[in-house]
Amino acid sequence: MPPDSDGSGLPTVRLAFISDIHGNLAALEAALADIARRDVNATYHLGDLVGYGPWPNEVIERIRADGIAGIAGNYDTTVALGHPSCGCQHDDPRHKALSAASYSWTREHVTVANRQYLASLPFRLDLRPLGGHRAGPSVTLVHGAATLNTVYWREDRPDRFSRKMILRLGAREGDAILFGHTHKPWTRAVDGCTLVNTGSVGRPKDGDPRASYALMEVGTAGIRVSFPRVGYDLDRAVTAIAAAGLPRELGTILRTGGSL
Ligand SMILES: [Fe+2]
Repeated sequence: MPPDSDGSGLPTVRLAFISDIHGNLAALEAALADIARRDVNATYHLGDLVGYGPWPNEVIERIRADGIAGIAGNYDTTVALGHPSCGCQHDDPRHKALSAASYSWTREHVTVANRQYLASLPFRLDLRPLGGHRAGPSVTLVHGAATLNTVYWREDRPDRFSRKMILRLGAREGDAILFGHTHKPWTRAVDGCTLVNTGSVGRPKDGDPRASYALMEVGTAGIRVSFPRVGYDLDRAVTAIAAAGLPRELGTILRTGGSL
């Protein structure tokens, strides 16, 4: 339990948010070890625990063993419910083909018990880090956007898109909304609401192969966000992808931070 102070004499609460782990246990272990050194009050996940990576069951089991609460990503709900595709969008036909191969591998390998866990994950999660006895701030987690977990809340979305999402989620000035899904970290404020894309732990697409997550400090003086990056054993992940019978190009994407 940190809590240190933001100068007001009242405690600051420190939270870690991990998203889009995508079956990459090596990256998850490194991210959790980094978080453990930062004296956080709690860690939450924002979904897409499975898909693309060779360790979907191991990732779910580690998240559950550590008691990390979280929400459902598009990959989680589609695998859990046997949807025909993961609901992912790819402009490049090579990425599209890899995505299809990964999806059928994942559907085949996730155990029944773990599918049941994925099906149990909520669509959104609302936190009140400074306590429910205070009016705010509220911190809301969704995987993609307020409407569907397949919708991409990219950094270049106009503010009118963000305003719609803020309204739909019932957020107000001083609150924060966190999401993932694009695998590219960013933050900005719209109408006083802090928007945070956490980036991806197990499959970053911003050209930096290191695991990405978001760290948030919440105090009476406001909200501060940072994006630690954590190097991990890429060779271990790439070797496991090949050994699992997944396309080797999925390993290339890990090494390059998103490209083939
Ligand atoms: Fe994802």
